[in-house]
Amino acid sequence: MLPASVLRLAFFGPPGAGKGTQARLASARFGLRHISTGRILRVAIKEQTAIGRVAQTYIDKGSLVPDEVVRDLAEDAMRKCDFGGFILDGYPRTERQAKWLMDFLGRNDRPMTAVVHFVLSDDEVIARLSRRRINKETGENFHLDYKPPPLQIRHLIIQRRDDRPEAIRRRLGVYEAETQPVAQYFQVAGLIHEIDALGSFETVHERVCSLLGSL
Ligand code: AP5
Repeated sequence: MLPASVLRLAFFGPPGAGKGTQARLASARFGLRHISTGRILRVAIKEQTAIGRVAQTYIDKGSLVPDEVVRDLAEDAMRKCDFGGFILDGYPRTERQAKWLMDFLGRNDRPMTAVVHFVLSDDEVIARLSRRRINKETGENFHLDYKPPPLQIRHLIIQRRDDRPEAIRRRLGVYEAETQPVAQYFQVAGLIHEIDALGSFETVHERVCSLLGSL
């Protein structure tokens, strides 16, 4: 495996495929920075910053936030870890974002290492998202069946607004129209590695570890 400090990874796939869950596990195991644009935006919304107020209208209905807004957040986070040792979770998700990312890292002489594509059926995505709950204070993820929240924090548990049925449907449509084609772009660049995202948290984690170990 390449040293963690030179790994530049993106976790890619449909909403609810487990990108965030697996990025957290892999970053803890290998000492990587976990950069989730969705999470950065949710914190901005909670703090009602200017970016948060713009992002909220898009996120709540399941649309993508404008490229320029998300790009600045991603750039800032990559600079903070000196362009190395990171997992981008949920970025890029348009062809424009993908091209900018490749160009940005290329200009800084720090090319992408790999894009990990989590593959999961729509039915399983819906089962995961509709039963997801989060801790409104920490953002920690739970699932009512697979990872139930502890009773002591029951009062802090909420459903994400974009996990309501209408927003889930919209996110899946946006994924198919705008994000899925990006896989082809990375395929041509020789960066895509597919992971079967069906299975327990641990099984999928082991698949990710074995892939990262082969880089
Ligand atoms: P973001 O937060 O990135 O949402 P997403 O990509 O839709 O991904 P999710 O967080 O919904 O799912 P996930 O794949 O991380 O799965 P998770 O691990 O949580 O972005 C939110 C919004 O921000 C976007 O819609 C957009 O508006 C905006 N945004 C963000 N980035 C953007 C960008 N680049 N450009 C423009 N806009 C952007 O798992 C899901 C559930 O399944 C959980 O309950 C979990 O416990 C459970 N689970 C996970 N793994 C398993 C397993 N193996 N078995 C059973 N259950 C599992």
